[in-house]
Amino acid sequence: MSLLTVWSDADATTPLIQTPDPEVIGRELAGVGVSYRRFDTRDDVPLDAGQEEVLAAYSDLVGGLVAEHGYTLIDVAQLHLSEESPDSVKETAAVARLKFLSEHTHDEEEIRFFSHGSGVFYLHIGDRVLGMLCTAGDLLSVPALTTHWFDMGTMPDFTAIRFFRTDDGWVGTFTGSDIAERFPTHDELAEVASHA
Ligand SMILES: [Fe+2]
Repeated sequence: MSLLTVWSDADATTPLIQTPDPEVIGRELAGVGVSYRRFDTRDDVPLDAGQEEVLAAYSDLVGGLVAEHGYTLIDVAQLHLSEESPDSVKETAAVARLKFLSEHTHDEEEIRFFSHGSGVFYLHIGDRVLGMLCTAGDLLSVPALTTHWFDMGTMPDFTAIRFFRTDDGWVGTFTGSDIAERFPTHDELAEVASHA
């Protein structure tokens, strides 16, 4: 289940808001300029499907977003780890997790559609941090230059379609802040969501 948690950026222990309600989530995110939409997912796409197969399965959604927003580059990012995964795969995933786990910005918006699994976007906007645990069916658009970080968890399991306008739109500019270390992780928020 998706879950939005909002904190003061000075207090990571006391949520100001915590909700799984899609309507409240959409309203809160829209209030800070972040677009959040829900789409149906398909249950006929195998976990080992490659990029072409995933994009073909979601061609209507992708085509609609391209027509609406003019994205020029679409790809699929996915990791499916389990306890049984080989250590080498776990090490690769740990490196991938660290890459965007510190606060950063991008010169273009960051758009992700989760067709499977989960990941948390932490948006640091004004004096608040909005932690959005995205799950299958969520489309999130983080505006250009928004300070944020992303946690895929210690056992990454997700398939995300990514939309870009330029070849290097995903390059991160890191702020050098250690704020991300103070906030609950993907694993902790996923645990909360499982009881919500
Ligand atoms: Fe990012």
